[in-house]
Amino acid sequence: MKKTLNVGLIGFGMIGKAHAYGLATLPFFAPGLTVAPRILGVATSRAETAEAARRTLGCELATTDWAALIENPAVDVVHICAPNAEHLPALLASIRCKKPIYCEKPVVANAAEAARVRAALAETGYDAPTQVAFHLRGFAAVRRAKELIASGRLGRLVRYRIGYYHAGALDASAPFRWKHAPNGGTILDLASHLLDLTDYLVGLPAELTATATTLWPTRPVRAIRADEAAADVPTRPVEAEDAVSILTRGLLRPTGADAAASDPANPAALTGVVEATKLAAGEEDEMSFEIGGTLGAVRFSLMEPHYLEFFDGTKPSGPNGGESGWTRIAAGARYEAPESDFPSAKSTTGWLRAHVASLATFYRSLGEGGSFGPDLAQGLRIQDALDVVKRSVESRRWETL
Ligand SMILES: NC(=O)c1ccc[n+]([C@@H]2O[C@H](COP(=O)([O-])OP(=O)(O)OC[C@H]3O[C@@H](n4cnc5c(N)ncnc54)[C@H](O)[C@@H]3O)[C@@H](O)[C@H]2O)c1
Repeated sequence: MKKTLNVGLIGFGMIGKAHAYGLATLPFFAPGLTVAPRILGVATSRAETAEAARRTLGCELATTDWAALIENPAVDVVHICAPNAEHLPALLASIRCKKPIYCEKPVVANAAEAARVRAALAETGYDAPTQVAFHLRGFAAVRRAKELIASGRLGRLVRYRIGYYHAGALDASAPFRWKHAPNGGTILDLASHLLDLTDYLVGLPAELTATATTLWPTRPVRAIRADEAAADVPTRPVEAEDAVSILTRGLLRPTGADAAASDPANPAALTGVVEATKLAAGEEDEMSFEIGGTLGAVRFSLMEPHYLEFFDGTKPSGPNGGESGWTRIAAGARYEAPESDFPSAKSTTGWLRAHVASLATFYRSLGEGGSFGPDLAQGLRIQDALDVVKRSVESRRWETL
């Protein structure tokens, strides 16, 4: 019998829904878990959204008083999915209650707040498990990159480039939201992921230099309606950066897990380029990296998350190329056991998303009428065609549908 763990979910915007989706599907992806998390209550900033979230989740409690939810003795685990500026008080309350915490990135808004969290951890003797949702480590291809680097297959690391590319800030009419306030800019939003991946794969740099920029100095306070002029909507100043470029040198701690990356004689020889921008025309949610060493290199693109590319510089080159060149490792859903049963190892990343889209159209037709298809009639046409295929296999002749 699995132990039920009651979750208190703080925030139910874009990422709160992702946490709830993940928790609901855990029994399929990780059947071997010895605990069974279930959402007991949800907190949002307004009573109507909290109640709507409760109905969506089918959970018991809805509140705007996140502190009460955290302190509720029935809550075993806290998920923090509120805007960045709200993380600190929720963290401090969870630490006081000594409850396990699964916290969205960035953990808090700045180093002063981080110091307060460290102090609270020390003062309370907090020892419950915690994790930060730097979920990009969750791709099998990224984990494979880590293995190749740690096992020395790239040799001594020499260079890396890692970038996160969005286009959303190019649009001057996109309204102001909390990500345009001081605690919400691209450094906290996207570069946090990049520095975490840098830490995971290479090690944090010993030193860096950075420059940042903001494209539009003001933004409309709300979405501009089709029937009004942009000039008629009040604006407010944008107080956060849209893009940041960082150059790095060396390694903060060239020991242990980072040993593959280091040359004790010349640690500063490792240089990196880290770029996070919401001004990248044509990009959607691209995160890519290339990491190169004396013996080889890896590269990855979030737009093709099934694959890790690996260049093994020890493979001989020769006439007509020999064996030298980039290899595409099909990492896909090949997670480590026991988390590898479902979906099957060959499933592409995104396979399940298409199933959810398919289910959604079916239940829309049940709720709203109509049919979004493919319906049974279409399925049966395919069935007939399949028979023609079989017929042709047997007859070894052209067959008509
Ligand atoms: N790991 C990722 O890929 C990823 C992606 C998106 C967002 N995030 C992080 O998740 C957090 C939330 O981002 P989002 O895009 O979901 O924001 P959002 O604006 O879509 O949703 C924020 C939610 O928090 C609630 N909220 C606001 N103030 C609150 C308070 N004081 N107490 C309780 N609830 C409160 C809002 O009602 C809303 O439900 C941020 O820290 C962001 O950096 C992470």
